Amino acid sequence: RKHDFVTVADLSNDQVLELVQRAEAFKHGASIQLKRPVYAINLFFENSTRTHTSFEMAERKLGMQVLNFEAQTSSIQKGETLYDTVKTVSSIGADIAVIRHPKDAYYQPLLQANLPISIANAGDGAGQHPSQCLLDMMTIYEEFHHFAGLKVAIVGDLLHSRVAKSNMMLLKDLGAEVVFGGPDAWYSDEFAAYGPHLSMGEIVDQVDVLMLLRVQHERLNQTDNQSFSQADYHKKYGLTLERATHLQKQAIIMHPAPVNRGVEIASELVECPQSRIFQQMTNGVFTRMAILETLLRAKNLIQPTSNLSAGADKHVINY
Ligand code: CP
Repeated sequence: RKHDFVTVADLSNDQVLELVQRAEAFKHGASIQLKRPVYAINLFFENSTRTHTSFEMAERKLGMQVLNFEAQTSSIQKGETLYDTVKTVSSIGADIAVIRHPKDAYYQPLLQANLPISIANAGDGAGQHPSQCLLDMMTIYEEFHHFAGLKVAIVGDLLHSRVAKSNMMLLKDLGAEVVFGGPDAWYSDEFAAYGPHLSMGEIVDQVDVLMLLRVQHERLNQTDNQSFSQADYHKKYGLTLERATHLQKQAIIMHPAPVNRGVEIASELVECPQSRIFQQMTNGVFTRMAILETLLRAKNLIQPTSNLSAGADKHVINY
């Protein structure tokens, strides 16, 4: 359905570039007016700081009304299913539900049920994190103004990372060269189809973009968690102060955050000149405005008089 946003797999290159362009336009002052009050609800069944607050910021900047919802105090605790929860908030009048849930592809039965409410995926298990992926594309685009030929390394806990899975798909489609790093055990055939596994030494010498991932202890089993050494991981797979000196001058460091400082990246590098980690968070608001705008447009909820074009002319996209 055109009024849902659940995976980057459905997006053409042109759609990705249009979303990046709209996010840039919002960053430069574009705005929309709604035809009637529009209600959003953010249903987060996994912890979040960035995605939750930046979706809420995006909703408010677009003029939407945001309904309160806390999973911990909701009737989910009494055993209500996700389907019944979403059908309930739809019946109450919510127009858009932004959902993060630990189950991979949790959204499939909701889409099949064809509820009138729009679904925006804020992360499903180890499946997809499409809004993070688009804000990452926006951040790369702001730096390089193209994607073709860029060398991008995705390093760390690949296996459990919905960010890695979403980003490798779009980066390859957009013409970037993808390589991977981190423990061998987390590099499976799924990743081999997108690019080779390299050592950290090879990666820091070659890449334009170094995308580090958090080790997701909440998704590791007990044995792996017990045997995990932060110092050992940092030494073998982390961006250490020494390794950072080998990065090319134009290379940028990215991380979806939250960051385990001193594990996947030395604490001092989180805010270093080559880091774009906090720029990614800023871009997250504008990217989520662009995503929500497409859902509102599909539902014919935007006034034609909106100031749609501010700043957009400065951002002709090449890829
Ligand atoms: N990057 C990201 O998804 O962060 P949160 O888990 O804090 O939303």
